[in-house]
Amino acid sequence: MPLVTLNEILPAARKAGCGVAAFNVANMETLYAVVRAAEIENSPLIVQVYQRLFGDERAALIAAMAAKLAKRATIPIVLHLDHGNSVEQVKKAIGIGYTSVMIDCSSLPFNENIKHTAEAAKIAHQSGVTIEGEIGHVPFGDGEVKLSDAAEAVEFVAKTGVDALAVSIGTIHGFYKKEPRLDIERAREIGRKVAIPLVLHGGTGVPEEQLRQAIACGVAKINIATELQNLFIREIAVEIKKNGEKFIPVDLYLKPVEDKIIEYARSKINALK
Ligand code: 13P
Repeated sequence: MPLVTLNEILPAARKAGCGVAAFNVANMETLYAVVRAAEIENSPLIVQVYQRLFGDERAALIAAMAAKLAKRATIPIVLHLDHGNSVEQVKKAIGIGYTSVMIDCSSLPFNENIKHTAEAAKIAHQSGVTIEGEIGHVPFGDGEVKLSDAAEAVEFVAKTGVDALAVSIGTIHGFYKKEPRLDIERAREIGRKVAIPLVLHGGTGVPEEQLRQAIACGVAKINIATELQNLFIREIAVEIKKNGEKFIPVDLYLKPVEDKIIEYARSKINALK
């Protein structure tokens, strides 16, 4: 089937009390592996792409591969721009075939976040594309966490028309220095007041039990990037150690690496079901 939007999978997932994995891919092998994993698990999949890959042709190349894979896949697949940084970037993503976008204006004052997100939402919806916005702020690495507020969530959703809402409930992007403790009470309050699916950024390293609690509060999309990409690189290192100076063509060299990614993605998909 063609690539679908968030609306084809997330509201049903929220209703069913399930989470859908959104994996960040950056090349053919990571894309291929997460699609394979989702097919084996018979689960819907969100493939997302870092905004920096929109700086050249990579985001479009990934889109072409994703569309091709989706066409013959046995499961629905969404292709999503992750952390879009401007309305221009949202337009670019739509133009090259992304069926879903995020605009992240969470570092701006609340009213400006609303203004830019609403503008991007209007553009996305005109093209039949879904959109995710963020309130509060989930930082990268050592940045400051700004927790989401339930009243702001209600206002933001009403004024922007987003299809999914990324909330800050104690996660960060990247590896944690100590185990995270999600603010489940906050997630529950937001989930009670906001009907659209919630999104958890910073899925790397969050214990499964806490992920399950967040899902029970209305989180339906769980973003995972660092752990998957780090595994890809570490597994290449394993292959280099194993093979030494021996020449092996790139596709064959990366096959066992791809298999490890499939195994990892399957375990994550299963943990969220
Ligand atoms: P991690 O890199 O911490 O898994 O977060 C992924 C993410 O939220 C992408 O937007």
